[in-house]
Amino acid sequence: MNQQELKRAVGQAAVAYVKPGEILGVGTGSTVDCFIDALKESGIEVPACVSSSVRSTEKLQALGYKVVDLNEVERISVYIDGADEIDPSFAMIKGGGGALTREKIVAMVSDTFVCIADESKKVDVLGKFPLPIEVIPMAVRAVSRVIEEMGGEPVVRDFTTDNGNKIIDVHGWQMHDARMWEERLNQIVGVVTVGLFAKRSADVLLLGTEQGVKTFEK
Ligand code: A5P
Repeated sequence: MNQQELKRAVGQAAVAYVKPGEILGVGTGSTVDCFIDALKESGIEVPACVSSSVRSTEKLQALGYKVVDLNEVERISVYIDGADEIDPSFAMIKGGGGALTREKIVAMVSDTFVCIADESKKVDVLGKFPLPIEVIPMAVRAVSRVIEEMGGEPVVRDFTTDNGNKIIDVHGWQMHDARMWEERLNQIVGVVTVGLFAKRSADVLLLGTEQGVKTFEK
């Protein structure tokens, strides 16, 4: 199976976690696109979705789903999203698609975070994938200097987020203690969100492998 087939398989498997009649949290990325397609095919009805990006909102609406603002919702029972890397503690690097801030907000208010990923995303230590950090535009150089002082190699992405901010992708860090890194990086003035999801990690991992979809629970 190629990577796209693995993504389709986990997207289909995630449909089993959707609670009919309840508002659904929907993440962002190519794996989530597969999930949205599978949800549509399943015919399962949800009253509305809360989306983590313009990209997912447009796809959901094109398929006839209602998308509501998070401010209209008290809580979300299930949030389904991908990851760029996930470690054995279910901490993740996210933000390869630039949607990390909204993803983190939706994850925070969700009871269950179901991570869907192909097996290339499972790692022992986070950091081979460059860590995305969303930054206020005027602080890009200032934050980059702090990152360099911390031993990272910042690369400013040619991209503007849905929130009007910039992304710095940081190379060169091996993050054994993801929670410590998340807290430390969140302290830098000018940082909006760091793409480490350690404090609010995933609860369930659906991993697409050559042997089929494997389910891991925390
Ligand atoms: C979006 O900003 C990311 O957090 C995605 O969830 C992550 O990059 C996974 O994307 P793919 O499913 O496209 O690999």
